[in-house]
Amino acid sequence: MTPLIAGNWKMNGLAAARVEVDRLVEARNGGHQAAARDDIDVLVCPPATLLAPFAAEFAEKGVLWGGQDCHGSASGAHTGDISAEMLADAGAGFVIVGHSERRADHGEGDNVVKAKAEAALRAGLTPIVCVGETKDQREAGDAERVVGGQLAGSMPAPETVGDREIVIAYEPVWAIGTGLTPTLDDIASMHSFIRGAVGPTRRILYGGSVKPTNAKDILRVDHVGGALVGGASLKADDFIEIIAAA
Ligand code: 13P
Repeated sequence: MTPLIAGNWKMNGLAAARVEVDRLVEARNGGHQAAARDDIDVLVCPPATLLAPFAAEFAEKGVLWGGQDCHGSASGAHTGDISAEMLADAGAGFVIVGHSERRADHGEGDNVVKAKAEAALRAGLTPIVCVGETKDQREAGDAERVVGGQLAGSMPAPETVGDREIVIAYEPVWAIGTGLTPTLDDIASMHSFIRGAVGPTRRILYGGSVKPTNAKDILRVDHVGGALVGGASLKADDFIEIIAAA
């Protein structure tokens, strides 16, 4: 399985962030031997305002482009929302759905996330479906039950998938932006649990405080098919090191 290293810029980045993309593209095109390997997929999900210009300028340059969220409908009276079709039109090939920040900030439940994942497939995008437990849920011994429930409720209906790709991202909420990560054993056991739920062909990413310093160890864990990187994807040098670790 080709590893996928994905950067989620969240609500960060102005036009000037183009210099970071320049560095990344340079690294992907021979500037950094390990990070230039074409048996690694590299994806950047910038804010929607930057998606179209970046995807146009840096098309076919070793970096894939994605959105951070989409609406379930193709168009309509939904002020401020962006459809999967619009993301595809802007040059995206992927879209993150069900990120814990959307689930928390916007009250998105599993059924909404599922509609978004199905919208992504409808528009020809690969959805990255995010799941993960909170600290309280882990401490209560509920992590697998919670993640299993999120998968059951958020994954697109099989008849909408066919032979299309879906990516799952396991992001423990308590590990996001905190510098904390689960032990490698805990990552292994959750990824093996998710593997059992989604079958043998899906890439399962780990996300939550992935840094150049821990990427090698995490990416070596069984059933970890890549990383979804937040903070460390904003600086090209850090992101390049994580790609090189893969
Ligand atoms: P950090 O890498 O900043 O912890 O964020 C992870 C994340 O939420 C990626 O989607």
